[in-house]
Amino acid sequence: MAQPQAAETTSQLDIRPLTGALGCEIFGVDLANLDDATWAAIYQAFLDHAVVVFRDQELDEKSFQQFGLRFGKLEEEPFVPNKTGTPGVYYFKGAGGTKKLSSQNLGWHMDHSYQKNPSLGAALYALDVPPAGGDTLFSSHYLSYEYLSEQMKEFLADKIAIHDVLHYGMESGHFSIAKVESLEALAKTRAKFPQVEHPLICTHPETGRKMLYLNKAWTTAIKGLHAKESKAILDMLKEHSLQDRFQCRVRWYNKSVLIWDNRCVQHSPNVDYEAPRKMLRVAMHSDWIPS
Ligand SMILES: [Fe+2]
Repeated sequence: MAQPQAAETTSQLDIRPLTGALGCEIFGVDLANLDDATWAAIYQAFLDHAVVVFRDQELDEKSFQQFGLRFGKLEEEPFVPNKTGTPGVYYFKGAGGTKKLSSQNLGWHMDHSYQKNPSLGAALYALDVPPAGGDTLFSSHYLSYEYLSEQMKEFLADKIAIHDVLHYGMESGHFSIAKVESLEALAKTRAKFPQVEHPLICTHPETGRKMLYLNKAWTTAIKGLHAKESKAILDMLKEHSLQDRFQCRVRWYNKSVLIWDNRCVQHSPNVDYEAPRKMLRVAMHSDWIPS
């Protein structure tokens, strides 16, 4: 009998799409005990769906780290100071937000696009989450590109965007209520990560699909345009890129694992919950320079 082909292996996973746009849940796998064939099928689903959820996983810091390392090198997290005792693994704690003027909500963004090499992706493991609230939303760069008019695709084809970590801090509601210390901390982060340029239209390095490579939080200008031109077009593109039909939404339960391909989605953490929540987080490194 012939060896199973990759496609057959993929089809053996119980994959259930979250929406018609992107995202899936995979059932019947144990992330603490992955064989290479199952891992290959999971990685293919990661590329196909961009957002993947697993339920009821029994993991500790070490096994979660090992799962993250399947993707390659793990990153340091400039905005997540709570290191665990396991390299690359961070505590990711939400404080709840409905009584806090949403001051903790970063809103829509992709991770680390203010760096030359934005993250490949991230993984979260829910240790203790409230019974409701705190859903994570995702929106597809692929669909965002595909639903542009042909004329707009042509206009954007050679445009370069500037990504700046200061942008969110200065433009958001957070700025108006932030403490001086937190603004000074942001300035220090900016000193470490100066502005970078990424093309507005990129091609995913593994799927080969074109994307509108846009970050609501940190894309600040289009190079070469007047400020008003740049702002008008970016405002339009940011609104365009976050339409419901490009999105999926992930609900949290204890022991859920979420992974996303940070190269081809924006995400948004809702703060519609009160009780504290605690997760583990790893960010996966990529050498890809957006192009
Ligand atoms: Fe994020």
